[in-house]
Amino acid sequence: MSLRRQDHRRAAVPIVEAVQRYLASDPKRFHVPGHKGSLGAPPAVRELLGARVFDADLTELPGLDDLHEPSGPIRDAEALLAELKQADHALFLVGGSSAGLLGLMIALVAPGDRVLVHRNCHRAVMAGLILTGANPVYLLPRCHQDWAMDLLVEPEEYVQAAERYPDARLAIMLHPSYYGVVCSLRDAIGKLRYRGVTVIVDEAHGAHFGFHPKLPQSAYTQGADAVVQSAHKSLGALTGGAWLLAREGSVDVHRLRSALRLIQTSSPSYPLLASLDAARAWAYAEGREVWGRVLDCARRLKDLLCGVKGLRVLRDEDVGRWGFSIDPTRLTFTLAPLGWDARRVDEHLRTDFGVFVEMQDGRNLLCILGPGDWWGSPSISRLIEALQSLAHCPQSGMLPDLPCAPPLPKQVLSPREAYFAPSERVPLARAAGRVAAQLITPYPPGTPVLCPGEEITPQHIEYIQGMSARGVRFVGLDEASRLTVVAGT
Ligand SMILES: Cc1ncc(COP(=O)(O)O)c(C=O)c1O
Repeated sequence: MSLRRQDHRRAAVPIVEAVQRYLASDPKRFHVPGHKGSLGAPPAVRELLGARVFDADLTELPGLDDLHEPSGPIRDAEALLAELKQADHALFLVGGSSAGLLGLMIALVAPGDRVLVHRNCHRAVMAGLILTGANPVYLLPRCHQDWAMDLLVEPEEYVQAAERYPDARLAIMLHPSYYGVVCSLRDAIGKLRYRGVTVIVDEAHGAHFGFHPKLPQSAYTQGADAVVQSAHKSLGALTGGAWLLAREGSVDVHRLRSALRLIQTSSPSYPLLASLDAARAWAYAEGREVWGRVLDCARRLKDLLCGVKGLRVLRDEDVGRWGFSIDPTRLTFTLAPLGWDARRVDEHLRTDFGVFVEMQDGRNLLCILGPGDWWGSPSISRLIEALQSLAHCPQSGMLPDLPCAPPLPKQVLSPREAYFAPSERVPLARAAGRVAAQLITPYPPGTPVLCPGEEITPQHIEYIQGMSARGVRFVGLDEASRLTVVAGT
């Protein structure tokens, strides 16, 4: 095939085109969705979103396709994604990377199987442990004391764990972290696969990897058996849009599709699927140029912010000693040297400058840069103005030191046993000796203090109380500081 024809084929958008064909046929609709295009849409939301969204909100009609057994435009779009990502299989997801992680775990793990997993896993992984009845071996991420931040589990830790637990069937890794911390996984993945351990990687924040030589390499190209990526997080797809890449021979794709049928809707959104299709085609056609612009913007922004007194930007040098580096498109910064609590910075940026960051964790703030950002754009200029203004208002005092995290608790029951056991709610202060039935984890996302099935000790209680006193919120604790424990333990 000539290069031009090949380019033309790869830039095609089969799902977008199928929707356009349907709309061009002047359809009279007697099928779901019940809004029948814009005519039957609730006026307030039609006004908010525009009629076109409703027109394109379709279902499995002739000429369109079935996400769960694709044989038309969805199959073609998935094949183009697989080609772009040089993957054996690519599957679109409408329930985010969460659905992909759950689907993979259901497809790959049987009750009682041992799974090596990073302790700071996303709650979808925890849901996968509960649903499958797997036995987790949690691996602790490296903690950066100065930044009070959990980074990644060093990949070699997985290899050592696989030696300690030769019955481990599956390893689940995180790459990158929420803050954009990345590392080379190739060696560890090779060793794990050699031992018969299947490796899946939560790359929810790395859908853009590989589209420019200065971006990190995707875990799939480093040998992972399966990878999930949230195209909605960094590639401009609509929220909930993600995809999954899988290797032939490691993942049975029929089983995987059947697992995804268990957990995803039978009515996937066509606007969302079309956005995945278009995100893939755009990345193919202009990815290098677009991400080159983002990288240039990120570099100049970080260089400028590094010169602002009292403001620190997380850079490769901060994490290099563990063999980690930072996705250059992530901007993590702190004003802790000036005594600024990140919650106050967040509020100040929002209320005084209309700047909304991705998250703050009490000390650090995270901004995500993507295709909508370029050097000199109004939003980048506003961000710079806002941060420079902060540096001019000196704060007094120091941020309180955070208490050291307690050791990993003893696992008494599997997450599934604990989750489904009869349970009761008790005050945190009286929970020592009981077994947690649910996750207790700091929010914004951090490393869980207690996972379902783990024994609660006075040290854990003291730690949670100490962190709460410093304003840290815990998911799993209600307003009265009660948590759910297994009854009778
Ligand atoms: C590390 C990580 N994994 C998985 C997910 C789930 O991704 P999604 O929102 O696409 O379901 C998230 C979401 O924030 C995440 O941060």
